[in-house]
Amino acid sequence: MDRIKILVTGGAGYIGSHAVVELYEAGFQPVIIDNFVNSQESALRGVEEILGVKVPFHRIDCNDLEAMRAVFAEEGSLRGVIHFAAYKAVGESVQKPLEYYQNNVGSLLTLLQVMREFGVEALVFSSSCTVYGVPDALPVTEQTPTKKANSPYGATKQMCEDILRDVAAAPDASLRTILLRYFNPIGAHPSAKIGELPLGVPQNLIPYVTQTAAGIREKLTIYGNTYDTPDGTNIRDYVHVVDLAKAHVVAVQRLLDAQAERVETFNVGTGRGNSVLEVVQAFERATGQKLNYVIGPPRAGDVPAIYADVTKSTQELHFQTTSTLEEALSSAWKWQLSLGA
Ligand SMILES: NC(=O)c1ccc[n+]([C@@H]2O[C@H](COP(=O)([O-])OP(=O)(O)OC[C@H]3O[C@@H](n4cnc5c(N)ncnc54)[C@H](O)[C@@H]3O)[C@@H](O)[C@H]2O)c1
Repeated sequence: MDRIKILVTGGAGYIGSHAVVELYEAGFQPVIIDNFVNSQESALRGVEEILGVKVPFHRIDCNDLEAMRAVFAEEGSLRGVIHFAAYKAVGESVQKPLEYYQNNVGSLLTLLQVMREFGVEALVFSSSCTVYGVPDALPVTEQTPTKKANSPYGATKQMCEDILRDVAAAPDASLRTILLRYFNPIGAHPSAKIGELPLGVPQNLIPYVTQTAAGIREKLTIYGNTYDTPDGTNIRDYVHVVDLAKAHVVAVQRLLDAQAERVETFNVGTGRGNSVLEVVQAFERATGQKLNYVIGPPRAGDVPAIYADVTKSTQELHFQTTSTLEEALSSAWKWQLSLGA
């Protein structure tokens, strides 16, 4: 039987490449779009080595309407889309808001237009826990009110969610969409053939940790230890990227089975919060590496603490993470070592 084709925009990126692997292994035929604005061709080679097959790939910009139409026409019979393609750095979005609105909101609008033209109805969208801003209470449920975002990046995710809700609610709409609000993805595929490839100085904790352990960076700077948390450092919900990737397979299947409402929103996290110091200790335990770290000033835009309530995703999406923090950190370290550090 032919595999069901799912378009994966941003499929050469960190989360997208892992989702491509899980989709293929679950029996789907992923088709990748990427323009390598924040990724490299090596990710596609890694995917090919894991799967033993080449995954169809189109090097285009999702904002390019004609190029998008050409991909939909050439591929034919696309049944769904997972839209990962976006800029994702909170700090950079403060420096380059126009680029962020253009790429993140613009690419979604173009995609929705082409999906409508070609009658493709199922969309899984990469949202983020940044839509919750600084929450009043923890853990956050999908009903927790979203507040003004702390950054243009967060605002683009809120806007995209609003656009999707409006488009799906129109009387003649055929779109059905699942908004996955990711918490903090970490780790790498167990094969260490794909993983997070930050260009330049990492903005996220784990690549910073692994690069410090590998001697690429002299020390890890922890941004603040006077937050209102038990040890004073930020608390986040760290989810193994392979678990996160699997959530997309479940979401795609749910849309294709037509079990989903027109719009559904799910948190994707572990339901556990870990402080930065706990992550440092877990990394040291899991890898036997000693980390050189210092405490620096807090970073603008960081919320003190956030972690997910996963009741809804467990009960309705039937999705649960399985990896421990230590497993995720070990996989990140293995990936760092594979990069030849
Ligand atoms: N990594 C995180 O911490 C995190 C957390 C929450 C949400 N998200 C969201 O998940 C998605 C994927 O994140 P990621 O960590 O894999 O990021 P990533 O940068 O590794 O992947 C994004 C991919 O999209 C591509 N891309 C960007 N704009 C494009 C365009 N206009 N046309 C074609 N390709 C384009 C990039 O080259 C890259 O390969 C993003 O939407 C991001 O906002 C990420």
